[in-house]
Amino acid sequence: MAEIKASDEFNRANRAFDNKLRPVDFEGFVGQEKIRERLLLAVEAAKARGEPLDHVLFSGPPGLGKTTLSYILGNAMGVNVKTTSGPVITKPGDLAGLLTSLEPGDIVFIDEIHRMAKTVEEYLYSAMEDYAIDIMLDQGPNARSVRLDLPRFTLVGATTRIGLIAAPLRARFGLVNRLSYYEPERLAEIVRRSALKLGVDIDDGGALEIARRSRGTPRIANNLLRRVRDYAQVKHDNFITESVATESLSLLEIDPHGLDEMDRRILETICVKFGGGPVGLSTIAVSVSEEPDTVEEAYEPFLIMEGYLDRTPKGRVATPLAYQALGLSK
Ligand SMILES: Nc1ncnc2c1ncn2[C@@H]1O[C@H](COP(=O)(O)OP(=O)(O)OP(=O)(O)O)[C@@H](O)[C@H]1O
Ligand SMILES: [Mg+2]
Repeated sequence: MAEIKASDEFNRANRAFDNKLRPVDFEGFVGQEKIRERLLLAVEAAKARGEPLDHVLFSGPPGLGKTTLSYILGNAMGVNVKTTSGPVITKPGDLAGLLTSLEPGDIVFIDEIHRMAKTVEEYLYSAMEDYAIDIMLDQGPNARSVRLDLPRFTLVGATTRIGLIAAPLRARFGLVNRLSYYEPERLAEIVRRSALKLGVDIDDGGALEIARRSRGTPRIANNLLRRVRDYAQVKHDNFITESVATESLSLLEIDPHGLDEMDRRILETICVKFGGGPVGLSTIAVSVSEEPDTVEEAYEPFLIMEGYLDRTPKGRVATPLAYQALGLSK
């Protein structure tokens, strides 16, 4: 039996919380309007034709709603959602076992699909395209392949690293959706809805204050709400106003701009070590001990959106806002 660590407990509690606040239908899903519209249309069309939904790929940073949307699709189509993740499927047999157990129209949700073994990925191609999979039986002179027919299914893939998805796999998805960070107003709406589910009162100022510190990310917004709720419950009669939110988030040392530790290290590297830039991506990556494409895909989009960083032909440049956020003068 695997040892249960404190961090596992913590993750389980967080996941349970995630699930409790997860919207189950498109009405409950806030923001990402274009993606919502596109998916709603696809669902309606598939249902009208009596066919399974096209294969769907979701990409984007953690906590923006990829898993949530996958379950919403399952509900909207009225089908089962079978969940697995890239690293779990290690052999073609694992994939075959999963796909042959489906009912027609079911959704297979593969999280972290960029981490699937390359040997398995090739089997997935024919499964997605022809609804069949050729499995090798035996080895050596007795080796032969048998073709397994599969029910028509929908593959929903999710990835935080779209750059690591091979072109042939990507091309097999009919609907490719890149989720982007949420505007503060959208996040505030999510916070208000979550507060309602949690039974705590909040006003618009309180919701916006939490939203501003949430790094454009619904999961962070919900987590901060949970912390602020504790504070409000003990000290403020279970009512979250702007000042209650500000007080408790300062107490918790949550960055007022929503920057996390790595965001700050990246900005510090550019501002302090390299005099504001321009500095190349790989140099920044070495300084903060991260992979260049993680810096580029996971951190920079938020920093650029918020106006802390510019990409120029010569390299990355910090803006005056970055100096302000770090409490530095230029
Ligand atoms: N658009 C949204 N409206 C309301 N709540 C949302 C929305 N998007 C995400 N959430 C909330 O944020 C939480 C995290 O979302 P989700 O688990 O879908 O993220 P994810 O993109 O799958 O993240 P990861 O890459 O870490 O798997 C959900 O539990 C849900 O409560
Ligand atoms: Mg997820």
